[in-house]
Amino acid sequence: MTPADSRATVDCARNETADRSAALLSVRQLVKTFPGRRTRTGRATPPVRAVDGVSFDVRAGETLGLVGESGCGKSTTGRMLVRLLEPTGGSVAFDGVDISHLGQRAMRPLRRSLQMIFQDPHSSLNPRQRVSRIIADPMLVQGIDAGAARRRAAELMEQVGLIPEHLDRYPHEFSGGQAQRIGIARALATQPRLIIADEPVSALDVSIQAQIVNLLERLQQEMGLAYVFIAHDLSVVKRVCDRVAVMYLGRIVEIGERNEVYTTPAHPYTRALLSAVPVPDPVVERARERIVLQGDPPSPAEPPSGCTFHPRCFKARDICRTDQPLLRITGRGEREVACHFPETESV
Ligand SMILES: Nc1ncnc2c1ncn2[C@@H]1O[C@H](COP(=O)(O)OP(=O)(O)OP(=O)(O)O)[C@@H](O)[C@H]1O
Ligand code: SF4
Ligand SMILES: [Mg+2]
Repeated sequence: MTPADSRATVDCARNETADRSAALLSVRQLVKTFPGRRTRTGRATPPVRAVDGVSFDVRAGETLGLVGESGCGKSTTGRMLVRLLEPTGGSVAFDGVDISHLGQRAMRPLRRSLQMIFQDPHSSLNPRQRVSRIIADPMLVQGIDAGAARRRAAELMEQVGLIPEHLDRYPHEFSGGQAQRIGIARALATQPRLIIADEPVSALDVSIQAQIVNLLERLQQEMGLAYVFIAHDLSVVKRVCDRVAVMYLGRIVEIGERNEVYTTPAHPYTRALLSAVPVPDPVVERARERIVLQGDPPSPAEPPSGCTFHPRCFKARDICRTDQPLLRITGRGEREVACHFPETESV
């Protein structure tokens, strides 16, 4: 059996045992491959397997953090979850409905419940539209009349901490933090149940980041929202998430309950990422272990053999160069780790 075959077997087993009905969002073996292109010299570049068999669930009202270095496939995953991108393989089920290949028309009723917030607030807002139009648009698409949509837009401005009288302004008249609040108001317009937040605070000043995170937490409590919170900043994720999934080169390498992952990371990559997060206590900060990752992540167009993390891993052995480790339950609880030598087992 090839590593890919054995992975498929294990994932089938996970599919059978996982209770899809309990999850609001259920993602199974999600794959996105971007085709290669032709360079100026006529050479064809290989296809990019940006997301390579990702599986997870999100329950109603919870926050799942999706973390990893730049280029590991976080945004591509997020875009497939809301069907801004069509998966090459695998499935996304929202509230029990398989949306993986639904067309625009069939997606329309589900779009109410499934929204996205983007990293760069200004570039995600149409500069030529007034804020009233930007926030009302998702409601107009759902058939709500213009007067009611405008009134609701004013309420939403207030709910996200903006002045309703500023409804007729344009996006450039707002700061970055205010523009992100507009993006959040737009996402809330249709009373969603799940929001995919793709690096929602990364482009903002640190002081503003805290305000937006507070706002997202308050809205979650008020409206029972679930979030998939995409970020590369592990401190932010620690604060907002119930569970965390760590991605490396298109795959989840560790997923589990937040406190478990943060206090006893089992995958060497998770350990390395967490070792780079500063600790506020100066005594602990001086004493803590630091693992410096060598080099940059490899290209998903030419992934290394076996465990794709092996060229950078401080624990790599011969088997890591040849055999791809499967995501499997490690230790207690629901934690899953893809490593031949996870931290909780004796090596
Ligand atoms: N439209 C596309 N065509 C070809 N390759 C793409 C496309 N979109 C993304 N990729 C590639 O897919 C991989 C994953 O990209 P993605 O944007 O999902 O990563 P990310 O984890 O969100 O990174 P970042 O933290 O920088 O936002 C990268 O190698 C990227 O270059
Ligand atoms: S499988 Fe091997 S190379 Fe991969 S993370 Fe585990 S120890 Fe490191
Ligand atoms: Mg991204």
